[in-house]
Amino acid sequence: IVLCQQTITCRAAIAWKTNSPLAIEEVQVDPPKAGEVRIKLKSTGICGSDDHVLKGLVPMHFPLIPGHEGAGIVESIGTGVSSVKPGDKVLILVIPQCRECNSCLHLKGNFCEKQDVLPASGLMMDGTSRFTCKGKRIYHSFRTSTFSEYTVVPEFSVAKIDDAAPMDKICLISCEVPTGYWAAVHSAKVTPGSICVVFGLGGIGSAVVMGCKASGASRIIGVDINEEKFPRARALGVTDCLNPRNLKKPVQQVVKEMTVVGVDFAFEAIGLVDTMLAAWDSCNQSYGVCLIIGWAPPNTKLCLEAETIISGRTMKGVCLGDYKTRDCIPQLVTCYLQNKINIDPLATHQLPFDQIHKAFELYHAGKVIRCILLF
Ligand SMILES: NC(=O)c1ccc[n+]([C@@H]2O[C@H](COP(=O)([O-])OP(=O)(O)OC[C@H]3O[C@@H](n4cnc5c(N)ncnc54)[C@H](O)[C@@H]3O)[C@@H](O)[C@H]2O)c1
Ligand SMILES: [Zn+2]
Ligand SMILES: [Zn+2]
Repeated sequence: IVLCQQTITCRAAIAWKTNSPLAIEEVQVDPPKAGEVRIKLKSTGICGSDDHVLKGLVPMHFPLIPGHEGAGIVESIGTGVSSVKPGDKVLILVIPQCRECNSCLHLKGNFCEKQDVLPASGLMMDGTSRFTCKGKRIYHSFRTSTFSEYTVVPEFSVAKIDDAAPMDKICLISCEVPTGYWAAVHSAKVTPGSICVVFGLGGIGSAVVMGCKASGASRIIGVDINEEKFPRARALGVTDCLNPRNLKKPVQQVVKEMTVVGVDFAFEAIGLVDTMLAAWDSCNQSYGVCLIIGWAPPNTKLCLEAETIISGRTMKGVCLGDYKTRDCIPQLVTCYLQNKINIDPLATHQLPFDQIHKAFELYHAGKVIRCILLF
């Protein structure tokens, strides 16, 4: 294997500071060091987590190149990389699987200790960055930085996928689909005939709805403040739509009244403390299960009435559907290729990468489930 030593100059979207428009700039992408992989991006989705990063709602170092929901082709590899080679189709993983840490070695753990989310250094494992722009070092986000024509990521953040995968939408299987669909199917194990409520009908919530439906839920209540999300949500399986702003009572009370005994499964896919509490309060007090998927801002606290816990319901956080990412995400791609799961309704918009501003406008206007950027 010939190791690549060349720096690549390409276009990337840089956030120079929080709450400012992304700038498409010429950047230099260093060659991959030992244990790293350089990838030519083919597609990337815009996830709610990227929006949190850009708004400064989660602590990150700026300037940075955002993006984590990415699909691409391996361009070159550093020394010691053995699981992928140049030319391989891959998905980039926000939660890696190093196969060495406590979490990876545990039967159930999937929050690999080598992730760069909580907390985020913005740097590769050796404490340096692979990006430069106008002579300045640029930080990585989540060690993924997919809003770039080329990126460098650790080998353990890369999953090799089937050669037949369509690269224009398979990126959704890097975050949205496992996060939402698997939270319902694998993590909550939604049961046939059950009643579910999903808070947030954006990208992740829509994938949750699909998972509830696929698991045979008999009723799926969708909650969102943007009613434009309702028609698509109904098409995916939501049976009742609620806009909390149009209700005279707290939404959890309405859900309780609608279901008499409370729901079997509640999912929070927004990232706000209030909706997490509403999800909890919507659950049946004895056997209800509340899954928290949304990413709450730091330094916020989730305060439950302590006495409400004793009756037996469960609250659980979930990341990427509780699956070990490198082992399981390629299998989900294969399921998609075998028509066992349909991700197409989630990819509502596609735009060329240089229209990233337009994509964010559509996202902020609440018009999209997922807008995919194509390189
Ligand atoms: N746990 C994980 O593994 C994981 C992975 C990816 C994303 N996330 C998190 O999931 C959350 C959702 O991400 P997304 O990509 O679906 O974002 P999104 O922006 O597509 O969807 C959020 C939805 O919530 C709705 N909403 C906002 N405020 C609301 C409120 N007060 N009440 C009801 N609805 C409200 C919005 O209208 C929108 O439809 C984010 O917090 C994101 O960081 C978690
Ligand atoms: Zn994501
Ligand atoms: Zn690990």
